[in-house]
Amino acid sequence: MKLNLAARLFAAVLSAAVAVAVAMGVAAHVNLNRDFLGYLNEQAVNRLDLAVPSVTAGYRQQGSWDFLRQRPDLWYRLLRPAPQDESVPLVDRPPAQATPAELTGASRRFTLLGPDRRRIVGFASPAENAIERAVVVDGLTVGWLVLTPFESVSSGAEKRFADAQARTGWVVGGAAVLLAAAVAFWASRRLLRPVRQVAQATHRLAAGDYGTRVPEQAADDEVGQLARDFNQLALTLQRNEAMRREFMADVSHELRTPLGVLHGELEALEDGVRSLDAAALRSLKSEVVTLHKLVDDLYQLSLADVGALSYRKAEVDLREIIDDTAGAFGERLRSSGLALQMDLPPGPLPAFGDARRLRQLFANLLENSCRYTHAGGALKLQARREGRQMLIDLHDSAPGVRDEHLPRLFDRFFRGEASRSRRSGGAGLGLSICQRIVEAHEGRIEARPSPMGGLWLHVALPALG
Ligand SMILES: Nc1ncnc2c1ncn2[C@@H]1O[C@H](COP(=O)(O)OP(=O)(O)OP(=O)(O)O)[C@@H](O)[C@H]1O
Ligand SMILES: [Mg+2]
Repeated sequence: MKLNLAARLFAAVLSAAVAVAVAMGVAAHVNLNRDFLGYLNEQAVNRLDLAVPSVTAGYRQQGSWDFLRQRPDLWYRLLRPAPQDESVPLVDRPPAQATPAELTGASRRFTLLGPDRRRIVGFASPAENAIERAVVVDGLTVGWLVLTPFESVSSGAEKRFADAQARTGWVVGGAAVLLAAAVAFWASRRLLRPVRQVAQATHRLAAGDYGTRVPEQAADDEVGQLARDFNQLALTLQRNEAMRREFMADVSHELRTPLGVLHGELEALEDGVRSLDAAALRSLKSEVVTLHKLVDDLYQLSLADVGALSYRKAEVDLREIIDDTAGAFGERLRSSGLALQMDLPPGPLPAFGDARRLRQLFANLLENSCRYTHAGGALKLQARREGRQMLIDLHDSAPGVRDEHLPRLFDRFFRGEASRSRRSGGAGLGLSICQRIVEAHEGRIEARPSPMGGLWLHVALPALG
């Protein structure tokens, strides 16, 4: 049989309640029997002690036990506790009044033994463990009054008492179990409702409904935590899914543009609208170069994402790398009418890294500065060592990046207005790649507004030695 969680919880709580009720019932029963028997026997011993004087008096009056042999019915009258009016003959005395011991039937368990320890009257089979009192008349033991203790609660009144106790026990036990069942029923439904909600929502989430949420629980317990974590998970999945779609859209869009241009130019050549000359080839080649760079950047980013972008690290001199890279931009800078001011310390700047990737990093940054700085502007490149860090700063003049765009510069496919409005603009992958390279070197990169009017890129890399 398949039971759901609520039914199992209900069954567990209910069976625990039943077990407790039964255990308490049994304990109560055992205790009652023991204590009650003890009480009965105590009463009986008291009764025995009370009976000794009247039995003694009976003997003294009659001179022997023969009267009891002939009239055993007088036995119970004789047992009536002293003081008795000894002038009234035993036969005429009223029957003994009911005392608590009388009600328990203790006197039915009294036996009178003669001096030879033979039974004269009373309880037929006195037990081995019987409690005895000697009946002494004029210094002579004339018999024994013997009480056979109760072994179990068996006779009328006390049995009724024990039964009433048991009945009360059953009623209380039954009521407790019913109450427990009601509480268990309520608890299993109430406590498990949020769990059920999470289970259903998980089902919907697994089916691809990332917008699904469960009501947040006010309670700060495990179930509340489960609901909050579930919502967080659904939100993350929803965001990732949105990012994936955006990324696919961006990639296809970025690929379509140069491909469309290429296609158009090739068609124009085919139709003879344009002649296949050196200029046409240059144009075609530049589109292919753009496509190639885009695909290459995407490939590098995807490798970095899965942690497979390989780095061949060695001891490198950052000064040399920066010098070389800046040198390679000499012609670009001159043609864009930009002045580059270098501020490097005289000695080497040793670091541990991949020279090729670091060149790529600085080339990307310088490329951006060339692209997004108005002609006639200026660039400033500084590098210095500070403690265990190499700090590299690249400033440029206007235009800059709007403050609200600064944190998004390193996002994939993010492009500022400058880039979007110009044909020279790239795909918006350059700074993402730069960030990956810096992170792979355990460094950090930040973008800030530059006092020179443009953008300030600050790079910190761990120094060597
Ligand atoms: N030095 C800079 N001055 C002003 N804006 C900049 C500068 N560098 C980057 N930006 C802005 O940041 C955006 C993102 O730069 P990123 O290098 O990531 O992409 P991209 O240059 O547009 O394309 P890609 O580098 O992939 O060819 C740019 O589009 C540009 O708007
Ligand atoms: Mg760029």
